[in-house]
Amino acid sequence: MNKNIAVLAGDGIGPEIVAEAIKVLEKITDKFGHSFNYTEVDIGGCSIDKHGVPITKEGMEICKASDSVLLGAVGGPKWDNVDPSIRPEKALLAVRKELNLFANLRPTKLFPQLKNASPLKQEIVGNGIDLLIVRELTGGVYFGSRETKEVDGQLVATDLMPYSEGEIERIGRVAFETAMKRGKKLASVDKANVLDTSRLWRKTMHRLSEEYPQVEYSDILVDNTAMQLIKNPTQFDVLVTENMFGDILSDEASMLTGSIGMMPSASLSSGTLGMYEPIHGSAPDIAGMDIANPLGTILSAAMMLRYSFDMAKEADAIEEAVNKVLDEGYRTGDIFEQGFKKVTCSEMGSLVADRI
Ligand SMILES: NC(=O)c1ccc[n+]([C@@H]2O[C@H](COP(=O)([O-])OP(=O)(O)OC[C@H]3O[C@@H](n4cnc5c(N)ncnc54)[C@H](O)[C@@H]3O)[C@@H](O)[C@H]2O)c1
Repeated sequence: MNKNIAVLAGDGIGPEIVAEAIKVLEKITDKFGHSFNYTEVDIGGCSIDKHGVPITKEGMEICKASDSVLLGAVGGPKWDNVDPSIRPEKALLAVRKELNLFANLRPTKLFPQLKNASPLKQEIVGNGIDLLIVRELTGGVYFGSRETKEVDGQLVATDLMPYSEGEIERIGRVAFETAMKRGKKLASVDKANVLDTSRLWRKTMHRLSEEYPQVEYSDILVDNTAMQLIKNPTQFDVLVTENMFGDILSDEASMLTGSIGMMPSASLSSGTLGMYEPIHGSAPDIAGMDIANPLGTILSAAMMLRYSFDMAKEADAIEEAVNKVLDEGYRTGDIFEQGFKKVTCSEMGSLVADRI
């Protein structure tokens, strides 16, 4: 199969980790007889430096015309004070919106080999954590109107958090369908005791739940969810929530796995086009040092094969290779423990590729 992939390496460690994911994808093409064409697109700070905007119109068109998008990360201190209208993250939000990537899937899996890297006690981690956060990605407060104005002599800032029934229903369907393919258990996270958006969210989810009687459905408040993720994370299978709650909870959940560097994500539209990226940022503190963990990006590439290209065998091959490398005791610095073999970012990529 021939596929076109838009590669948005971005800033900080972005180019380092994306290079390792491509190394692994190339091994897949060799083994399974596919051909992937990569088109590089500048995004984030590097695009601001070169083109004056975080992504160009041409870059956006390349993404739209591709079969999928592979992203590293954007941002860094160098661009913290640029005009808010061209901040690096603006490009990410724009790609999500333009490609209509409304469903963000964030698996949180604690590999048994990394049990000790989890900050939770062994009795809480149990036989491993395996949950999936489905986050709404193109609505809510990140896309509502905002303003800062002077009222009675002081500045007042407002950010609106709009959600339509249609937006809630389409993410709800993705969550129920995903739960059907996993443990058939879905918790919908909201703040219905305070927010109107959450009350509409809950009402819509309840209506949908009647169409999926096989799924054990429950509502849970976001503050309680934050607590339960630490207290008893193995109770969860699939969690569905709005944009900002999902952003915060998935970073919290990532720590259960030992390192944010292990976490992949997929952002999906209603078709097969998707964007795949690790959930972490550009890690400016370790950029250019070849010590970042590339596994979150490599596992994102596996999700790309599974969700956009319908290549389940190939995706399994990447996940099995990651498992083997961890079994053999190789660790990047973020997941390193005494007695294991410390490797660099590029060594980790090669180790995974060699085991495919
Ligand atoms: N999707 C994105 O592109 C995205 C997401 C979050 C933050 N950001 C941007 O990234 C920049 C840095 O943000 P931050 O420091 O808050 O978050 P971060 O995720 O970049 O880093 C947080 C911590 O985790 C470590 N870390 C992250 N990824 C790692 C990896 N693969 N391997 C090993 N360690 C890793 C970093 O070294 C750092 O100590 C900011 O400009 C922020 O706006 C971008």
